[in-house]
Amino acid sequence: MEASVTTDLYQRASQVLPGGVTANARTNPALGRPFYVSRGEGPFVYDLDGRRYVDTCMSNGATLLGHGHPAIVAAVRRAADLGFACAFDGEPQVALAERLIAQIPCFEMVRFTTSGTEATFYVIRIARAYTGRSRVLKFEGQFHGYNDPLAFSFWPTPEEGGPAEAPIARPETAGLPPSAGQEIVVAPFNDADAFRRALDRFGDDLAAVIMEPISYDVGAILPDRAFLDLVRAETARRGIVLIFDEVLSGYRTGPDCAQGYLGVTPDLCTLGKAVGGGVPLSVFGGRRDLMSVVSPLGPAIHTGTYNAHLIPILAAHAFLDTIGRTGFWDHLIGLHERLYASLRKAFVEAGLPVRVQGVGARFGLYFGLDPDIEVTRYRQAARLDRAMLNAFCREMYRRGVYVNPAWHHGLSALHTEALVDQIVECAAESARTVARQLAEKK
Ligand SMILES: Cc1ncc(COP(=O)(O)O)c(C=O)c1O
Repeated sequence: MEASVTTDLYQRASQVLPGGVTANARTNPALGRPFYVSRGEGPFVYDLDGRRYVDTCMSNGATLLGHGHPAIVAAVRRAADLGFACAFDGEPQVALAERLIAQIPCFEMVRFTTSGTEATFYVIRIARAYTGRSRVLKFEGQFHGYNDPLAFSFWPTPEEGGPAEAPIARPETAGLPPSAGQEIVVAPFNDADAFRRALDRFGDDLAAVIMEPISYDVGAILPDRAFLDLVRAETARRGIVLIFDEVLSGYRTGPDCAQGYLGVTPDLCTLGKAVGGGVPLSVFGGRRDLMSVVSPLGPAIHTGTYNAHLIPILAAHAFLDTIGRTGFWDHLIGLHERLYASLRKAFVEAGLPVRVQGVGARFGLYFGLDPDIEVTRYRQAARLDRAMLNAFCREMYRRGVYVNPAWHHGLSALHTEALVDQIVECAAESARTVARQLAEKK
């Protein structure tokens, strides 16, 4: 399985990049070394030997349109033709803000940044500046990037997380100031009673509640209706800013994102990943009074040399043009529904316990969990069998399908039904192999 050109690069990379990678998420525990790629093309990625893989990771959800979608490539070329002088604004930035405000329910004003981590950092700053309070409540099993205020309790094991109904705030990285832990409150997602208790205790001090409206960073967990309504009503009643982090949930269910799909409008929200069509762009925005604390209207600073760079701004226009085409969503969602139904059947037939759970165009594969029981809580998801997931990813890789050994997966608009069937065929063989390996070990 090891290609020497890859091992050579891994050796070189390990001398100059910690772990031989530029992001921790690229270490790839399934392969035991990073999956280095030479290029992407629509639904495919190519390794360093030129071997082609059907991609089911799609840049962690950033290339929803496919790798190098022609509309995005044309936009990047246009930006180059215009000389992409950065640190300036012009008509494309204003027009993109207008388009997003017309589309996303909570947006009345927006600003642009580069990564999801920056966007979530800034919405917390705005909520604090607006309310004059400092504490923030987040949910266990939800990810908002690695900025210091929010780097808690992404994926703790049950032992690390403390009591399920009152989880502790577990730092996800070394190097945080001790004060960061005093500013964060962690609650279990989809637990209305626990949320009420947290508000009774900390409600007067909370600047914000931040949540992934659909919990894609642990697969694909929908919010319980009563829970979501409670979160919206109680934050409004107590003057707490409700933030939807839609960096991942944005554009998985439709053009108005999870907030449109769920019919609940937050006060602020963040977008990232898909909106830039594979080019780094993030957005934050929301109610006008909240966004009015942003400088120069108010005292909360947001600035940056690369904010709203012309390449991502034109790419985002191309992204919005593309998702607005007739049939775009039917095709994208239809492909995923076909995949979910066929994968479920394939795992059952192979005798491998896997819960396939998807919402729109992103899904989780819960290895080792009962296929028929819906995952509704993080602590259920945390029982995922990582060894089984890794074994499956390795088998898929051998068969030319790239599955990231991670929580969430998805296809792109450039995948086809034939490719879905190919993925399922490989999954059926891979699942049978893994089931056999497990039986032999017993
Ligand atoms: C919900 C959510 N928020 C924030 C982030 C951080 O985004 P970025 O990796 O662009 O910093 C991610 C990335 O995976 C995410 O899924």
